[in-house]
Amino acid sequence: MNVLVSGGAGYIGSHAVLRLVENGHQVLIVDNLSRGHREAAAVLESIAPGRVAFEDCDILETERLAGLMTSHRCDAVLHFAALAYVGESVEQPLRYYRNNTAGALSLIQAAEDAGVGRFVFSSTCATYGEPPVDQVPIAETCGQSPVNPYGWSKLMVERMLIDRAGQARAGGSPFAFAALRYFNVAGADPEGRLGEDHRPESHLLPICLEVASGKRESMTIFGDDYDTPDGTCIRDYVHVIDLVNAHLLVLEALEPGDQRFYNIGVGRGYSVLECIEACRRVTGHPIPVTMGARRPGDPPMLTANPDRIRRELGFEARYTNLDEIIETAWRWFQANPQGYGPEAGSGR
Ligand code: UFG
Repeated sequence: MNVLVSGGAGYIGSHAVLRLVENGHQVLIVDNLSRGHREAAAVLESIAPGRVAFEDCDILETERLAGLMTSHRCDAVLHFAALAYVGESVEQPLRYYRNNTAGALSLIQAAEDAGVGRFVFSSTCATYGEPPVDQVPIAETCGQSPVNPYGWSKLMVERMLIDRAGQARAGGSPFAFAALRYFNVAGADPEGRLGEDHRPESHLLPICLEVASGKRESMTIFGDDYDTPDGTCIRDYVHVIDLVNAHLLVLEALEPGDQRFYNIGVGRGYSVLECIEACRRVTGHPIPVTMGARRPGDPPMLTANPDRIRRELGFEARYTNLDEIIETAWRWFQANPQGYGPEAGSGR
């Protein structure tokens, strides 16, 4: 297949491109490099010469995108490009709606204009908001009620895709989509070719590794008074390789008319304290911490019930052990203390 990957120079998107080319697909990366790294795309171009193309393009450029999809004869779109910081979305909601919601609309429109019939969308467990305890682990049937603009900006895209699919069905044109609701994505290519390089970094595991590598002196735990066994928040950490494998399975299974929704998680949760302890074990570094206040908007416990994708597509996460997930990220951190380079991904 010829696949357009928006956000293909970012953390998850670049790993998806790697898996696509490993599976024999051709990829056009579209990225505006506001959060992605040109260097990541260059790594991919060197791994699969002639099968990865890169365009510095914003997802709001509808006409240009449609032209690219046509000239590259795209069969499918994998849409990763997004802003993904919950706190930032509260501070700058319109920026999130412009980039994530209007940006997705533009990309869906371009796909329609170019006659591209398969669309896989990176959604999030943030669309579930703070589900009642008896609904955790969360199944896809759980009500969606986001508690921040980030979650809303993604949920609105799910709605657009449902309506676009309805329109396509009524008009007899083939269109199929899947929305994958990610839980907490972590880890890196086990061969160390790609990794996680967010600027600024706000995620728990990379921050632990920054402390372990000496980039930061210590870190703060955001609250230990939650109603969880050790008082810190619990999350479901899924390896980025498992996540992109799920994308490939879904992409290859999509049939005209499909509307699929899948949770992507492991089905097992780790508390913040357990994560820090695991990073200490893996890195051999003490990782000093201080206890801080709760971070606004953090639900106490988010874990996935991943049964649907297991049942329907036979998906099984390969990395079910947190230490193994961290080991792959740690390898990348040690080999690339400056990420993709001191100048990379300064943002714009
Ligand atoms: N945490 C700390 N200290 C830190 C960083 C994080 O204690 O320095 C805690 C957070 O408070 C949270 C847990 O570690 O309890 C995990 O936090 P992350 O920021 O790593 O991840 P989130 O669960 O907040 O975010 C993830 C995805 C988002 C998505 C969100 C949905 O990264 O993209 O889940 O809730 F929107």
